[in-house]
Amino acid sequence: MRLHTSPASPFGRKVMVVLHETGLVAEVERRDASLTPLAPDEAVCAANPLGKIPCLELDDGTALYDSRVICEYLDGLHAGARLFPDKGPARFEALRLQALADGILDTAVGLRYETFLRPEAYRWPEWIAAQKQKIARALDRLERECAGFGERIDIGTLAIAVALGYLDFRFAADRWRDGRPALAAWQAQIAERPSLRATLPG
Ligand code: BEZ
Repeated sequence: MRLHTSPASPFGRKVMVVLHETGLVAEVERRDASLTPLAPDEAVCAANPLGKIPCLELDDGTALYDSRVICEYLDGLHAGARLFPDKGPARFEALRLQALADGILDTAVGLRYETFLRPEAYRWPEWIAAQKQKIARALDRLERECAGFGERIDIGTLAIAVALGYLDFRFAADRWRDGRPALAAWQAQIAERPSLRATLPG
């Protein structure tokens, strides 16, 4: 299997975390793509017409995307505890949390492009403020919910840890921990997992 990703991509990091958690790292050849929305990577586009990473090419030529599909595929390849619960409330709770984490990331990556790639004259401060509000609302919800996470490790809690890691990586000045002590304490604990330590963005 070949994984197109990038050291800075949080969705790529989520896949790498799952590879570590499932003991499958050695099964995948990692290819770091260099791309932006304005400068796509040819090899990625050949595998995924959307030109987005992460993209996992299987040995039979099938390409899987996006990160949710790749993570669930990988979870079917190992014998350990499932990261995607099989069914029932536990499954939908894990999927909901993953959706919340991915929503934070979609918003944060959009903000990154807006504030880094888009020429200053074309930036839209009201849009930027609204996106930051969206992230703040999601973090406030997590502050209330995270006491219930306990020691739970599944695709939902791992995805939240990755989303918080991306905020530290690209939006440290926004200080997401301020006013959110429970979430900060939960994050400090989960960030010690080897899968998260081995995949810090860079
Ligand atoms: C970043 O540099 O923040 C980034 C890189 C790849 C995908 C998304 C974000």
